[in-house]
Parts: sequence; C-alpha cells; structure tokens
Amino acid sequence: MRGIILAGGSATRLQPLTGALSKQQLPVYDKPMIYYPLSVLMLAGIQDILIISSHQHVETFQVMLGDGSRLGIHLDYAVQDEPRGVADAFLVGDKHIGNDRVALILGDNVFHGPGFSTVLKHSLQRLDGCELFGYPSKSPDRYGVAEIDEQGNLLSLEEKPSRPRSNLAVTGLYFYDNDVVELAKDLKPSTRNELEITDINLSYLEQGRARLTQLGRGFAWLDMGTHDSLLQAGQYVQLLEQRQGVRIACVEEIALRMGFIDADTCYRLGEELSASSYGGYLMEVASGLGATLTG
Ligand code: DAU
Repeated sequence: MRGIILAGGSATRLQPLTGALSKQQLPVYDKPMIYYPLSVLMLAGIQDILIISSHQHVETFQVMLGDGSRLGIHLDYAVQDEPRGVADAFLVGDKHIGNDRVALILGDNVFHGPGFSTVLKHSLQRLDGCELFGYPSKSPDRYGVAEIDEQGNLLSLEEKPSRPRSNLAVTGLYFYDNDVVELAKDLKPSTRNELEITDINLSYLEQGRARLTQLGRGFAWLDMGTHDSLLQAGQYVQLLEQRQGVRIACVEEIALRMGFIDADTCYRLGEELSASSYGGYLMEVASGLGATLTG
C-alpha cells in the first residue's frame, strides 16, 4: 500500500501566515501540521509515502522530514505546479503508486480518536474499490457529503451541495485500489475547474465498490483552513496532551510502536531534541516510561 499526502494549494485564507511557509508547515501546537496526516498513514502501516506540495515549498518539506529513514519509512516528494484539484494527486503520484493500492490524505486534516488504528486496519482489510470516512458536521455544505441507509450502505455523494442530504461530511482520508489512477486520467474538470475527488468516489459508487466508515462521537476530525480553525486545532492538541501526558501525532513514537524503528533509535531522536519537552517525551517513551497508549 502506497501513501500520498497532498500538501499543496495556495492557502490564501491563512495569509499573512502563509507568506513564506505553506499551510501544512504551520505549527499545530507543538509540531508542524504535516505530522498529523503523516501519523495517520503510519498508523495504517504505510511506509512508502509521497508528499505533494508546490514548487515553492517542497524543499522546506525535505529539510523538515528528509527521506524518512529516521522514522523507518520512505518519503518521496513531488511538485504540483498549480492546484488542479484533490484528484490531481493520482496524476502527480502516478509513478509512486505503480501497481499498488493507495491511501490519500489531505495535509490539513487532523484525525484523533479511540481505536483509530483498528478502524484503519479494518477498513484496509475490506478494501475493494474505495473506502471513505464520514464524520458528522454542523456545516456539511462545506464538504463532500455522503448519504447512507440504515445499514450504513452508501446511497449518494455530493460535493459541497447547497442542500445537503445528510450531515455526514466525507473527510480527507481515502483508500483506493489501483483503478483510481485510470479513473483520475479520465476525469473532466468540474465547474470550479478542479479534478474533484468526489467525482472519483462517485465512479466507485456507481460500480457498487464504495464504502464508508463512520467516525462517531468521541472522535475528532478537524481541518484547518482558517485562522480560527488552526488555533482551535492547536488548543485541542494542547488540552489533550497536557491532560493525558501523551502526545498526539508524535511520528517518532508511532514509528516505535509500529515497529518501524527500535527503542534505541527513538531514544537517539529524542536526545537530538532534548532541549524541548517533545524530545524529553521521546526519551521517556523509548525508555518505557511513557504513559501507555491505547488504540
Ligand atoms: O477536508 C475534506 C474535504 O476536502 C472533502 O469533504 C471534500 O469532498 C474535498 O473536495 C475537499 O474539500 P476542500 O474544499 O477542503 O478542498 P480544498 O480545495 O480546500 O483542498 C484540501 C487540501 O488539499 C488543502 O489543504 C489544499 C490541498 N490541495 C488542494 C487542491 C485543490 C492541494 O494540495 N492541491 C490542490 O490542487
């Protein structure tokens, strides 16, 4: 399974924060935003990941994350010269995907909740076409919207409908079989001149091969497109980390728990950051002193 993090776009709504940095490089409390989607792919067991960003920002991502070997994973980078739409990720990432299946995650999405790695594992096991994740929203018209029946079967999908048929937003995490690359090649731009991910999902739905897992109450899904939502996400992470003493989206810890690196390596990564509480946490986790994570 290959992974893609889509971390391009112009992020004009976040100016002047995004004058020099890309949105996905901005801090969400104690770590850069991209750590959050990266941690989701790692939790799903994915070790081959492509980061797509604009020409202007790709080098900063490379400095930030390198080739991934420190985390026991493999990171590649590709440039999207213009924001042509979320589904453009499969055209830019064509070679990276090869003949494999692929997980796409948007670089500004935070997922956090109990049992998430089990949810991911289950969804990957049953993948036969396309797997989506739904989350109740007060403003579904801002998202892709899914309609389901009482058994949870997908009935319809619409992109940002003015009259949503349900309150179930489609989150920015998608699992696909290899057909997605050909579907993306055949896609026509929408009225807003973008290759829409919802159009890909609709093709799978028409073939009866799209499924949706609902992320229920008690789960957090946040996307960060505005100053307020960026601050709220940071405050959410701060609150939980301070109350529980465990870090959210700590990619070094996830690498350790997934068996991508050993405890000595994790400890050394902590030592390199030992002037920060983040580094101290890594050393504690590596020494087996950290609080136990569940889910
Ligand atoms: O966040 C979930 C939603 O993401 C879904 O519910 C929608 O169905 C899906 O279309 C998408 O909607 P958005 O309006 O949030 O997409 P947006 O254009 O804001 O792009 C999402 C992220 O992807 C954003 O951080 C920028 C990045 N991006 C976007 C485009 C269009 C790129 O890197 N390249 C692009 O070409």
